[in-house]
Amino acid sequence: MIFKKQIIYMDNAATTALDPKVTQAMLPFFEQKYGNASSSHQLGRQAKEALERSRSVIAKSIGAKAGEIFFTSGGTEANNFAIKSVAFANRSKGNHIITTKVEHECVLNSCKWLEKQGFKATYLDVDKEGFVNPEEIEKAITPKTILVSVIHGNNEIGTIQDLAAIGKVCRKHSVLLHTDACQSYCKTDLDVNKQQVDLVTLNAHKIHGPKGVGALYIREGVNILAWQSGGGHEGGLRSGTENIPGIVGFAECVKQGASKTHRKHMTALRDKLIYGVLKIEGARLNGPRGDKRLCNNANFVFPGLVGETIGGYLDQKGICSSTASACTVHTNEPSHVLQAIGLSKEEAEGGLRLTISRFTTEEEVDKALKALPGIIAKIR
Ligand SMILES: Cc1ncc(COP(=O)(O)O)c(C=O)c1O
Repeated sequence: MIFKKQIIYMDNAATTALDPKVTQAMLPFFEQKYGNASSSHQLGRQAKEALERSRSVIAKSIGAKAGEIFFTSGGTEANNFAIKSVAFANRSKGNHIITTKVEHECVLNSCKWLEKQGFKATYLDVDKEGFVNPEEIEKAITPKTILVSVIHGNNEIGTIQDLAAIGKVCRKHSVLLHTDACQSYCKTDLDVNKQQVDLVTLNAHKIHGPKGVGALYIREGVNILAWQSGGGHEGGLRSGTENIPGIVGFAECVKQGASKTHRKHMTALRDKLIYGVLKIEGARLNGPRGDKRLCNNANFVFPGLVGETIGGYLDQKGICSSTASACTVHTNEPSHVLQAIGLSKEEAEGGLRLTISRFTTEEEVDKALKALPGIIAKIR
């Protein structure tokens, strides 16, 4: 049991509870093993060993080399790092970036920021289930294109893009491919060589690890500028004293979480949730079904209703849900992802996202399914 069971937590796309095994792995690095990984004494060496062990764990999990993993303060920083540092490093080659309309805000806003610096960005449409067509990517590539950035598993509607097909197109045209894998990491297959990806954003707090830690995979040989200047940490690309407890926790949650059994468990509960909610009159599913959907994601729309209101009633019953991404909430705008898959602004207001985790139980899903029809009837 990892959190108070009177709460049914179904907002695991926003963040997850820390796995107790992760807490245990981190604790010594707050208490006795508090050295700075740059110090040459024994506490420093101990921290450095933990840092490099963790780097190897993360690298192995995506088929990368340890030297290709650069720790950051999370997914937002890694996405900014990937997009902005690649753009400026390759400025002499071109100034065009391709992305999609269903990216996380930190990708979209990095591209918008670059546009203000003289870069050009193409925001590709997606289909009704949220997929970008690799052929559309190919058509959008120009001699000036330097980077394609496509989210792997969508944080709102769970769509898993065909990275291998996108990777093939990018290789063919010698354009770098970046993917934001914060939601898909440990939930679906990710291999930088099989899928031919050059930069990958990862973070820990979506997989029962600590907040404030992530990583950017950068393929050896990719032309990229240093993101933070300083003492030359992380191969000189991202200076700053490494967050050793966080990084150790990150590696531990990957060790604990990257299991096919967990995926099977989540897939079964996700499908039970989808099947049950769709029995409610008017409810519609956003995003695809089956193995092209993140195993922990269910996203519905109740046309004519307001998702915030449904979430409020669920909260009163101890069930945590969300309407869209935790970050979109700050803009007070209906989800850009739901609008990109063809919902009107009004329809998008009626979105409800329920995201489970490997710790979610069938009993919790049953309770949510029991509560929801009454709530919808009451609001109507
Ligand atoms: C797809 C995606 N990318 C990036 C982020 C940002 O990650 P972080 O919260 O570690 O900055 C998130 C988390 O909200 C996300 O879901």
